[in-house]
Amino acid sequence: MAAIRGLFYGAAIATRHLNDPAFVAALLQECGMIVSEWEAQWAALEPVRGKPDYTALDRLVEFAASNGLLFRGHSGIWYKRVPDWFGAINDRAEAERLMLEHVQAKFSRYRGRVQSWDVLNEAVDLRSGRPDGLRREVLLDKFGPGYIDLLFHAARAADPQALLCYNDYGVEYDTPWHAGRREAILALLRGCRSRGVPVDVFGIQAHLRIGARFNADIWARWLDEVAGLGIKLMITEIDVTDAAAPGDIAERDRQVAAEYERFLAPTLKNPALIGMLAWGLSDRYSWIVRGTEPYHKRPDGLPPRPLPLDADLKRKPAWQAMADAVIAVPKR
Ligand code: G3I
Repeated sequence: MAAIRGLFYGAAIATRHLNDPAFVAALLQECGMIVSEWEAQWAALEPVRGKPDYTALDRLVEFAASNGLLFRGHSGIWYKRVPDWFGAINDRAEAERLMLEHVQAKFSRYRGRVQSWDVLNEAVDLRSGRPDGLRREVLLDKFGPGYIDLLFHAARAADPQALLCYNDYGVEYDTPWHAGRREAILALLRGCRSRGVPVDVFGIQAHLRIGARFNADIWARWLDEVAGLGIKLMITEIDVTDAAAPGDIAERDRQVAAEYERFLAPTLKNPALIGMLAWGLSDRYSWIVRGTEPYHKRPDGLPPRPLPLDADLKRKPAWQAMADAVIAVPKR
């Protein structure tokens, strides 16, 4: 459906999901793109220095290719998922060489077969107290802010065809925290553009939650500012945490659908928006249902219902809300 509006629609998956035939059938019916949920992360690919294993990622890329799906890579480098052995390297030149070798190897391995890569994930964190809002983590500590430029130029050289994306979260809502993050991310993107750093897309993770303050006008204006830099927009990881919603499934599903709807309406309208991916297609496989974060857990202990399909692979009101939002978009 998204394709008829010139958008793409997809979901995050892991290789273990490919062993579930019913899920694969639903995925092929619903999606035109997949993204690697975690198996393209450096720590997952090369837990032992010098012994990278691309078997799982190869399988995902091959699955996409053999089923006519677009593939997006997540991610190039994420501070949370660099291998432990990398953090222990104190020689800056050696660390930089190894980081760039990893990006070059990973991106060139799938050259021409990846629609987009999250080259860098979640580099902003206002708690650092830095004027630029960059997160104090292993990459900034080793290389300073210049690592961002290094990564995107290395990515472009390794796969000139892939759209290169900066991916981040915590921008969607009308709160001081999100407003500060929007400001810092816009500055990061503006700086990249001014230095000729090849950032093609901003990835809006869109991990939404019931009960948050949202102002569609403030959000739409910020999206216009990002797009005004000549940067495309992509919803990369959308889902809805329903911990604040009542236990009744019909009411909970209604509230989750309403959250998708109120966010997607102003977002999909932006002409720079090129597509969206859910962070999982079904409640059967969701980091939220796994209770990865404390705020995912519902007070009543019931399993969350964050995604477009339920655990039995049935479409939910959330699916309809996404479909309605796409249909409302003028054809690109
Ligand atoms: O399934 C294997 C299991 O067989 C194995 O024994 C175990 C050993 O570590 O790993 C299990 O896989 C775990 C996988 O989640 C499935 O549960 C990985 O270790 C674990 O790293 C992985 O966590 C992922 C996390 O990112 C870190 O990569 C989550 O699935 C994934 O949903 C989460 O996604 C992040 C995005 O990358 C960035 N934005 C936020 C989002 C949510 O945190």
